Amino acid sequence: MILVCVLSLNCADHCIRNKMFNVIYFIILLFLVSTQSAKMICYYDSSSHIREGPAQLSLQDLEPALQFCQYLIYGYAGIDPESYQLRPLNKELDVARNHYHAITNLRRKYPQLLIFLSVGGDRDHFDEIVDNPYISLLENQAHRNTFVNSALAVLKAYDFDGLDLAWQFPKNHPIVVENRFKKAWKTFKGWFTGRKVVDEKAEEHKGQFATLVHELKDAFRNDGLMLTLTMLPHVDADLFIDIPRVVPMVDFVNLGSYDFQTPERDPKVADHTAPIYEMFERDPTHNIDYQVQYWLNNSAPSNKINVGVPAYGRSWVMTRDSGITGYPPIEHTEGPGPAGKQINIPGLMSWPEICETLQRDKELDGEDAALRKVGDPRQRYGSYAYRSADVDGLYGLWVGYEEPSTAAIKAAYVYAKGLGGVALFDLSLDDFRGQCAGEKYPILRSIKFKL
Ligand SMILES: *[C@@H]1O[C@H](CO)[C@@H](O)[C@H](O)[C@H]1NC(C)=O
Repeated sequence: MILVCVLSLNCADHCIRNKMFNVIYFIILLFLVSTQSAKMICYYDSSSHIREGPAQLSLQDLEPALQFCQYLIYGYAGIDPESYQLRPLNKELDVARNHYHAITNLRRKYPQLLIFLSVGGDRDHFDEIVDNPYISLLENQAHRNTFVNSALAVLKAYDFDGLDLAWQFPKNHPIVVENRFKKAWKTFKGWFTGRKVVDEKAEEHKGQFATLVHELKDAFRNDGLMLTLTMLPHVDADLFIDIPRVVPMVDFVNLGSYDFQTPERDPKVADHTAPIYEMFERDPTHNIDYQVQYWLNNSAPSNKINVGVPAYGRSWVMTRDSGITGYPPIEHTEGPGPAGKQINIPGLMSWPEICETLQRDKELDGEDAALRKVGDPRQRYGSYAYRSADVDGLYGLWVGYEEPSTAAIKAAYVYAKGLGGVALFDLSLDDFRGQCAGEKYPILRSIKFKL
């Protein structure tokens, strides 16, 4: 009000009204900016719509999540390796059964929601690096044009708000470490010098990807479409992303800051899959804090960086040589744990599948025996649960996982650092039926509550 008086000192009546209006407008704007909270980005894996059994996620099952999300990212579209057009990966569901429209129509009921189509996401399968259309597309102006035009056409035809580039760059190879515990700390850095080259022409591809991002942005401008980037786990941003050129062109970047350790990449060593901070004698890049800091160090504004949080765990088979303490890293594991009863993928357990194994009757034994849970009181690395192998070497299992309480700690980290938000991978792996504790989407809720 003091401001209003000062501004209006030498003003006629009509002018005072104008100035007051301006000042009030300014105050409202200030209020809006200061109360703007971090973003909640929800990935939706459309293949969950056609699963069998309790893991099948229908549109009705999806709806209770949507009040908590500002962005819904529909996964995934792919790239036609011959024409370089963006194409549905599940044409029957996405187009013939009109699922694209069914999803974008949800905006009528949830008007705050922005709905993006995501391309890539490790769902687009091809063999060798030479055949990788995500790379060969970059090298050719005509192919880039084809992709840009087809993406624009699909977004407009199905009324999406934007495109998410979950681009399938070649991934870093896992580092095989023999005799981890015999290595002295001073040789630790030596692990990384031997990293195999994943792309001889990475420097060129980095420049061409930045050009593609510019071309997409230009093409989308007239229709006000948005553009975002999703970094898949183990894609080295240093190799492929020219941050100063790319970040100003995208609305935000979702970091694949999970799956640092997986039973497919590291079948013989089980470990925490998505720690917040660096762990002793581990790859120093395999944690959220390093990934975030890398982008901030390279000129990305903090409010454009979103931290990826999984709604699932990764499981390994423990052998007799894996010991009985459960304390990670666990050596001598034998690859992915058996597929769960709901999601049915070896080595991957959704939160409701994990929760069920923790709640089992303690009297059960063999493959039905309950897992012993070890929480994370220091709030740095995440939870795990295990069942050591029996005298015959059977039924051993180790699972590193996310749960509502650890997801909340990550959300608090995001909030404290002033980052853009949290990206949840994905809604279909959270407990959308409320099987665990009666409440639907407990991981999503606990993140949203902290943002
Ligand atoms: C970020 O920069 C700081 C200060 O230069 C440095 O100590 C740190 O190692 C860098 N972190 C990453 C992840 O690049």
